[in-house]
This record gives sequence, C-alpha cells and structure tokens, in this order.
Amino acid sequence: MKFLENKKILIIITGGIAAYKTLDLIRKLSKLNCEIKTILTKSGKEFVTPLSITSLSKNKVYTDLFSVENESEMDHISLSRWSDLILVAPASSNFLTKISNGFSDDLASTVIKASDKKVFLCPAMNVRMWEHASNKQNINTLKSYGYRILGPEIGEMACGEFGEGKMLEVDEIINQLEIYFKQISKNKKLKAIVTAGPTQELIDPVRFITNRSSGKQGYEIANSLVENGFDTTLISGPTNLKPNDNLKLIKVKTGEEMHKKTMELLPCDLAIFTAAVSDFKIKKFNKEKIKKNKDQSFDLDLNPDILELVSKSNKKPKIVVGFAAESENLFDNARSKLEKKGCDLIVANDVSNNEIGFESDFNEVHLFYKDKNIDDEKIPKNFKSVIADELIKKITNKFNFFND
Ligand SMILES: Cc1cc2nc3c(=O)[nH]c(=O)nc-3n(C[C@H](O)[C@H](O)[C@H](O)COP(=O)(O)O)c2cc1C
Repeated sequence: MKFLENKKILIIITGGIAAYKTLDLIRKLSKLNCEIKTILTKSGKEFVTPLSITSLSKNKVYTDLFSVENESEMDHISLSRWSDLILVAPASSNFLTKISNGFSDDLASTVIKASDKKVFLCPAMNVRMWEHASNKQNINTLKSYGYRILGPEIGEMACGEFGEGKMLEVDEIINQLEIYFKQISKNKKLKAIVTAGPTQELIDPVRFITNRSSGKQGYEIANSLVENGFDTTLISGPTNLKPNDNLKLIKVKTGEEMHKKTMELLPCDLAIFTAAVSDFKIKKFNKEKIKKNKDQSFDLDLNPDILELVSKSNKKPKIVVGFAAESENLFDNARSKLEKKGCDLIVANDVSNNEIGFESDFNEVHLFYKDKNIDDEKIPKNFKSVIADELIKKITNKFNFFND
C-alpha cells in the first residue's frame, strides 16, 4: 500500500449502523501512515463516540459548523483544503439526499460542497432504502458531480434483511483508495489530448456549416482524465461549456485549426477524438454576405481527417481513440471506421436514439478495439460523466497505462 502512505484523508462519518466499521478503517489507515481527520454528523454521534474516533485517529473530531474556537479557521474550507481525498463512510441515505440536492446545513455537507478534492462515498443502508427510486436518482446525480461511489455490497444487514446495501468491506475500501492514489501518481507524467465540440466552416461573414454536437461527452472525458491525473489539453470547437480548471483549454473554430493545434501537441500518450469535425469546408470564403437574390451555390473541399492523420502519423500517440456517431448499422460502420482510420479503439454511439447522444446529458456507447482478441464492449446508458469515467477506466486498464 505504498501509494496511500502519508496521504491526508478526511473521513466523514454519518448516522448509519456501519459507523462502527469506520473505526476499524481509521485504525488500519493510520497503520498505513495516513493522516486522518474526521467529521461526525449529529446522528453519527448516536452510533460512535468522538472519544473512540479520536483515540484511533489521534486528531480532534470535528462536529460543528459554527464553532467559536475555530471560527477564524473556517473548518468547512480548511478541512477540505488540508485533505488529499474526502471519504464518506458510512454515507447514509439522508446524507446522500442532502449532498445530491446541494444542501449545506451542517459541517459535513458544507465541507463537501466547498470541497476542491475528490469525494468517495461508501453508501450503507437497508436494501429498501438503497433500492428506493429517490436514492437511485441521488446516486446518478452524485456520479454526475464526479463523486465516486464505492459499493454497497449484497449481504445480510444489521436489521436482519438481506440484499444490496451493506457498506463495502474495510479492506476493499482501502484497496480502492490505494488504486486511486496509484493512478494519480502514475498518470502525472502522462499527456492526453481530447478534442470536443463541433467545428464551424464559414461560408460568408454570417453563415457557416457545422455539425450537431454539444461537446458534453468530450468535456466530461477531459474532466475525467484530469481527475485521473493526466496532463490534459482539451481542444474545443465552439461550445458554451466550462471545463475543469485544471486542464489546458485551446479554443478553435474550424476543422483546419483543430487539426493544426492537435499536430502541434504531438507526441502524447493518449489522444481521444470526440469532436464532430465538419467533413467539408468552403472552397472559397465569400468576403461579403451572400445576398438572397444572388447565386447561392458554393463549392466544398474536404477537411483534414484528424483521426486518420494522427493515427497514421510518425508521431502517433501511444493510444488513439476515435468516436463514431452512427445513425444506422452501428456495428459494421464502427468496425470499418476502425480499419480505415488505423486507430486503437472506436467508441460508437447510436445517434438515431433521441434519448442519448448529441445535446442529451446521457449516452450509451459500444467499444470496438483494434485488437480482435478483446471483445466488443458496451457501456450502458448513463450520464455522460459516468460514461466518461467508465471509458477512462477501461482504456487505462486495457492499454496498461498504470502497470509498472
Ligand atoms: C438504529 C438505526 C440505524 C440506522 N441505520 C442507518 C443506516 O445504516 N443507513 C442509513 O442511511 N440510515 C440509517 N439510519 C437512519 C439515519 O440515522 C437517519 O436518516 C439520520 O437522519 C441520518 O443523519 P445524517 O445523514 O446527518 O448522519 C438509522 C437509524 C437508526 C435509529
């Protein structure tokens, strides 16, 4: 567990029966030389005492948002800034509801809202609570905020019922934290490029050809790469989206500009091309606005095929991933695109389905690898942020980005 060593972890304990297991978690993490600070909710105090926590963590337990003693320090800000990661274990159903709805009415929920750190949540509750539609909705919302959900597991519960809702075993939580810190440290040296959004090919000063694309999926992929520690540059066509503060953003308008900027950034370790680059550009830009009663015809040229040019370039990144939006024959078209372009992976989505893709917050994708030994995979319908996280997990695993 060398990647966990010397890490500062802020553990939030909420009011669930599994809180007693968190004492063991604190003990084990301390033994691994982690520094632990804790926040205990009002209900959490009914399950474990500040005294037992403090004797294991060797640090004060924080409970109050308004504490005269620490007013000048503002714990709700300083605790998050101090930590390398925030872990909520157990995360009660009530707490998940609060933070998914943006509440900040106690120290624990305020810290989460004011946090600039990765948040891991370990839900633990009765199976009916876990399966409740409101809970499912909360979990999806929390995933869309970029929080990572660990567990729960299936098993017998303290209440005697059986099902999904048990807090993940302490050793498995520690394992997941180690994997996360390992990824962060490995990826620091890895360079990634993502293209996103549409391009605009000017016809005259007021008109252009473009493609339907909100850019949401590409931005989420870039955010996910940053969260996984990649040194990430996002080359974006015109969108209204705000990217993660920690990535480098290059704004472009045309397919040619996007191509030029991409080539300038090569070589890199990972390039993911989600942008919907217009296949065509205008042969001759009309300096003046074309009048309604004049000849309205114009000639087109092909834009550079960035995916193919990069895949076949002598500066080809270690892994090149292309996106394919297909409205028919998804499987055949994706496979032939994979062969023609020479990339390592094609991520295809069916844009004939209006509930996913384009402007939607949802997507569903199929993965086609160049290596025929790897089966085609599907990431089922989910928020684009969740699709992005899953995709990055699969790419980094399949292409051994973190192996020693
Ligand atoms: C004995 C007992 C056990 C409970 N166990 C759980 C639990 O495992 N998970 C959960 O979500 N809520 C559980 N609850 C309900 C929460 O304690 C309650 O919703 C509380 O408001 C949570 O507050 P907090 O989220 O601020 O910590 C339990 C309540 C009692 C009385």
